[in-house]
Amino acid sequence: MTLSDYLESHSSPVDASLSAIERWAHLHTAQPQMLCGPYMGRLLSLLCRTVRPHCAVEVGAYIGYSTCCVASSLDADATLHSFEVNDEYEGAIRRHLSDCHCADRVQLHIGDAKDQIPAVFPSEEAVVDFAFIDADKRNLRCYYDLLVPRMRRGALLLVDNVLWHEKVLDRELHHDTDTLAIHAFNEYVQHDPRVENLMLGVRDGIMICSVL
Ligand SMILES: C[S@@+](CC[C@H](N)C(=O)[O-])C[C@H]1O[C@@H](n2cnc3c(N)ncnc32)[C@H](O)[C@@H]1O
Repeated sequence: MTLSDYLESHSSPVDASLSAIERWAHLHTAQPQMLCGPYMGRLLSLLCRTVRPHCAVEVGAYIGYSTCCVASSLDADATLHSFEVNDEYEGAIRRHLSDCHCADRVQLHIGDAKDQIPAVFPSEEAVVDFAFIDADKRNLRCYYDLLVPRMRRGALLLVDNVLWHEKVLDRELHHDTDTLAIHAFNEYVQHDPRVENLMLGVRDGIMICSVL
């Protein structure tokens, strides 16, 4: 048994509709590994049920797995603004939201989050209570800097894949653009006085920030 198997087998089971999305991804997409997966999905759900955000944001929906994890854990009057640049995924996202009975809680914005976040939240008023960044790694800092000023005090921001298969540990060996961008982002967060941050070493590394 691997550590991952042990962690999974001592965490609450995944909802059947979420498992169905995972199965669909394996059958119908070329990159099922893009889904954050059941462990991260349950972390997102558990935190959302605890924080009970009124306004949540997701950057990078792909086919809507993490979107469903967050949205299905929101209160009925809360909204998840989900940003996805690739319009080819819109049909799958909407179908999966409908299957998980949480479409009414999601506003899907198809377009580049770098343009869409300022368009949806034009003032830098702090209204966002929860955010999950899971898009391209080169623009992590850009999404983060767009979101942090728009987040309330005490709001949570999660970023996935901050260890990048542990490549960030040895940048002499791994000096590709993604690894260097993720390391630069981790350093940036570490020195950002606007947040309290904790990096979790589970899966591919998860950065959790609480906005001060
Ligand atoms: C790793 S996948 C997201 C997986 C999803 N969060 C999940 O766990 O099911 C990354 C997604 O980010 C999207 N993306 C990349 N750059 C983006 C941008 N600038 N704005 C919005 N979405 C972007 C990609 O098209 C892709 O669907």
